[in-house]
Amino acid sequence: MKKSVRYILNGLTLPVFVVDPNRKISFINKSAKMRYTEAYSGQLFSELISSKKCIDALETVLNGEPNATANVILQEVVPTSFRVSLSRLDADSEPLPSCVLSFEDVSHIQEAEQMRHDFVANVSHELRSPLTALSGFVETLQGNAANDKEARERFLEMMSNEADRMARLIGDLLSLSKLQASERVAPTEQVDLFKILSSVSSSLSGLAERNSIKLKLNFSNFMPLVTGNADELTQVFQNLIENAIKYSGNGSVVSVSFKPPKEGKSHLCISIEDTGEGIDPTQIPRLTERFYRVDKGRSRAQGGTGLGLAIVKHILIRHRGWLKISSQLGKGSIFAVYLPIFAEKKLSQATPA
Ligand SMILES: Nc1ncnc2c1ncn2[C@@H]1O[C@H](COP(=O)(O)OP(=O)(O)OP(=O)(O)O)[C@@H](O)[C@H]1O
Ligand SMILES: [Mg+2]
Repeated sequence: MKKSVRYILNGLTLPVFVVDPNRKISFINKSAKMRYTEAYSGQLFSELISSKKCIDALETVLNGEPNATANVILQEVVPTSFRVSLSRLDADSEPLPSCVLSFEDVSHIQEAEQMRHDFVANVSHELRSPLTALSGFVETLQGNAANDKEARERFLEMMSNEADRMARLIGDLLSLSKLQASERVAPTEQVDLFKILSSVSSSLSGLAERNSIKLKLNFSNFMPLVTGNADELTQVFQNLIENAIKYSGNGSVVSVSFKPPKEGKSHLCISIEDTGEGIDPTQIPRLTERFYRVDKGRSRAQGGTGLGLAIVKHILIRHRGWLKISSQLGKGSIFAVYLPIFAEKKLSQATPA
């Protein structure tokens, strides 16, 4: 093979092999050498890669077809999916063709496909449950409850709850997709967290009372302003404080506290701490996944969709902030929100006189 061709093949990031008419490897590019350290020139290709699909495709090309592809799973450190593209290589000096094989790692595409599939399955399931309940109630109302005023009112209230749940789910899904679309652009307004935290806390004080939860507010209007979007930050604290109230059980204390930034730090912290039952540490990394709930039944009974923390995460990514979750089973949880402090932009150019 010409030196210039070797040079080009070595520059490719895809692993590439050339296999001669005797089924032996005649060239391995740099990327393939790094991935398959045991491969060597002169080795039978099938000794290195024994996948039947790949060998069959190789035979097709060496027997005269110009191209072939094969989707294979190779056992590397973990099983990895590859799309192998094979092309016939005719050299003037050789009576029989060789074959060039390139290996494209397509695991990430398959993972994305799997995630899309899970997401559609989750959404359908979450929408179907309230819909099934609604059809059941309609049937009952058309049947034996038609003339029972008390039962009718009870069923109508339950139907209204189910309809609210569906509306909330659709609203949350739309919020998430809008956030993901706008994630690259950070908000730039000045936001007064004192106003937001006060209004969210007072709107949730009724829920706290009904759950016999003491809501402690450890912040004042001396907090620095942050850079953000007031509606989105309201959504963040609404969900975190509501979660702390919903999931920590009667008699717990929920504290919302401002932690001043350390000297020279650009982010401040608002923590929402509860004295509830806490979360198993193995579950913590999954909490911000869409639809992930530690206890599905309990969350559903509380009207939850399992999208709250996913929305929080995406809002904070857009704000160039982050969420830190720490928890101890039996002791409680802390959800700490870090947000960038608002800084006046310095003019980079002198204003013309
Ligand atoms: N403070 C907390 N203490 C214990 N568990 C919590 C706490 N906050 C969240 N969780 C767990 O994390 C799960 C995910 O929370 P998330 O806010 O995403 O969904 P949700 O509250 O179930 O529904 P939604 O927020 O959409 O109404 C909850 O179902 C609950 O199991
Ligand atoms: Mg929630």
